[in-house]
Amino acid sequence: MRNILIFCVLLLFTFAILVFVQPQWVAAPAKDGAGPLAIKIDPRLVAPEYHSPIEWWRTHHMDAINAGDFTEADCLRCHDPQTSCNNCHSYVGVRAIPTPSP
Ligand code: HEC
Ligand code: HEC
Repeated sequence: MRNILIFCVLLLFTFAILVFVQPQWVAAPAKDGAGPLAIKIDPRLVAPEYHSPIEWWRTHHMDAINAGDFTEADCLRCHDPQTSCNNCHSYVGVRAIPTPSP
């Protein structure tokens, strides 16, 4: 009888610990979104015309760069790779855009 009681207490204890050890939920990268992966772009900047429509650009910007229409340096005039390229790239598993040395 006493063993069962100890077992139950230990079981409860284990569940209580598991509740706290759960990994934190991380929000997917989204512009002005929440969490460490949020995409941040200087709000004073106006998006260039080739970004339009933005849903299309989000999934086709790599084509423009790989076709040679733009270089990565063109993008970094406005974008900080840490806060508006690589947070998304690391999430989807694409290689990181190098930060240019100043
Ligand atoms: C003149 C400044 C400027 C340049 C140059 C520029 N961008 Fe942007 N970009 C912006 C702005 C501003 C936004 C936000 C637009 C919006 O949310 O409507 C944006 C948004 C984006 C987004 C979408 C982020 C999201 O998920 O909402 C991607 C991807 C992106 N840019 C990639 C690029 C790439 C790749 C290049 C180079 C070929 C580039 N940008 C060049 C200003 C720029
Ligand atoms: C909202 C998410 C997102 C953002 C923000 C983003 N990218 Fe991408 N990028 C992707 C995805 C997804 C792919 C891969 C698509 C595929 O392989 O089909 C990609 C691929 C690329 C590629 C091709 C990589 C390769 O090895 O072929 C380049 C170059 C690139 N992105 C540049 C940039 C630059 C520069 C920025 C910042 C200005 C940027 N991206 C911001 C999602 C994003």
